[in-house]
Amino acid sequence: VSSTPLRPARRRFPAAARGAIVATAILLAAAILRDQLDLLTVAVAAVAVGAGAIGSRGTDRTTVVGQPSPGPPRGVDLVASCPDPVIIVDRRAVVLQFNEPARSILPGIAERHPLAFALRAPEVLDALPPIAAGEPARDVVFGGRTATEATFEVRLRRVLSHEGGPAPAASVALFFRDLTAERRLETMRVDFIANVSHELRTPLASLIGFIDTLQGPARRDDAAREKFLEIMSAQGRRMARLIDDLLRLSRIELRAHLAPAGTVDLAETTAHMVEVLAPLARERDVLIHFTAPPGPVPVRGERDELIRVVENLVENAIKYGGSGKHVHVEVGLTEPEGGSRRAQLSVRDEGPGISPEHLPRLTERFYRVDVAESRREGGTGLGLAIVKHIVNHHRGRLMVESEPGQGAVFRVTLPAADT
Ligand SMILES: Nc1ncnc2c1ncn2[C@@H]1O[C@H](COP(=O)(O)OP(=O)(O)O)[C@@H](O)[C@H]1O
Ligand SMILES: [Mg+2]
Repeated sequence: VSSTPLRPARRRFPAAARGAIVATAILLAAAILRDQLDLLTVAVAAVAVGAGAIGSRGTDRTTVVGQPSPGPPRGVDLVASCPDPVIIVDRRAVVLQFNEPARSILPGIAERHPLAFALRAPEVLDALPPIAAGEPARDVVFGGRTATEATFEVRLRRVLSHEGGPAPAASVALFFRDLTAERRLETMRVDFIANVSHELRTPLASLIGFIDTLQGPARRDDAAREKFLEIMSAQGRRMARLIDDLLRLSRIELRAHLAPAGTVDLAETTAHMVEVLAPLARERDVLIHFTAPPGPVPVRGERDELIRVVENLVENAIKYGGSGKHVHVEVGLTEPEGGSRRAQLSVRDEGPGISPEHLPRLTERFYRVDVAESRREGGTGLGLAIVKHIVNHHRGRLMVESEPGQGAVFRVTLPAADT
């Protein structure tokens, strides 16, 4: 794949032609970087012709564009320097050249062997001869038949000479682009929009239903009005909470690359939130036990964000832990074990717990173990997704342990700040 030294005997080359080839090489490198394939096609053609004219046997190796003087070749090996897989085949689909990325997706590939030995994708292979014969360029998508099982778009381009005729050396270039990440993002985006729409539609439908009832059959029914207005208020609040959570998530995502700047006392922040949630705990007949070391527990962080972590974890423990139970909230500092000290927050409840199959998915947006229960509790399904994003932003870790019937423990560790 790498460069082939050029033969001295063939190196008589006019300076102007040399200049043109080097310029083409630079153009091609720039084109690859900027993903301008049309320019690239022409450039590959020019380089292939140039290199074919200089190269040994005039056929196989095509891409070293160097100085035609003795010594190691200078210049760029264009195919090798392309970050995506590139393969050049002749008109019989025999491999002339390929780069390392191509080898990593097609481990069986070898020069002078038919491409079909390494790539079993008829939609790609069948498209090669017509393109070599001059039919228009094509883009083919295929998936699952490479070492990485990825989905690729392959751009097939005939390699042309300066004059527009077929190049003597290579005839078709295959440019691969991995579509897997793009497709996964697209699926996530579509799912997310479907989820948000559904979450907003449910309370909205109920609001509209009650408004219709109040305007019609229940117009003069005072008792019904009281009851319906109460439900409507709860639904409206749920929609507001959902929008607040969505905005919060997107704000955290926007700031994900900025390291938290402040220093926060995790013990004080947690104590504050436990106090704020005391009325909810009383209402649910839940007893919160809070323990923290006597001094501050400083972490590098954003107080607003850490407050949301404590709020979501303690609120979940109160709501899902069950009434009449206890919730244990603990803040501490770990002793340094070779590394630096870490601050830890743990929230433990005595509820029904979470079965293992749900644990890995809890922090996905809108994932709930029991959708009806979450709705009843006014949940949005975004709490733990927010917690995970904030913990990541703080370079921390979130761990969940639970044995069904034994309650659940949510543990957050964060790098401690120097005092
Ligand atoms: N302490 C807990 N015990 C049992 N289940 C829990 C606990 N915390 C969270 N869960 C489950 O995880 C789901 C997701 O939690 P969360 O993201 O906070 O959303 P929400 O509380 O709005 O439903 C909850 O719906 C619940 O099923
Ligand atoms: Mg929650």
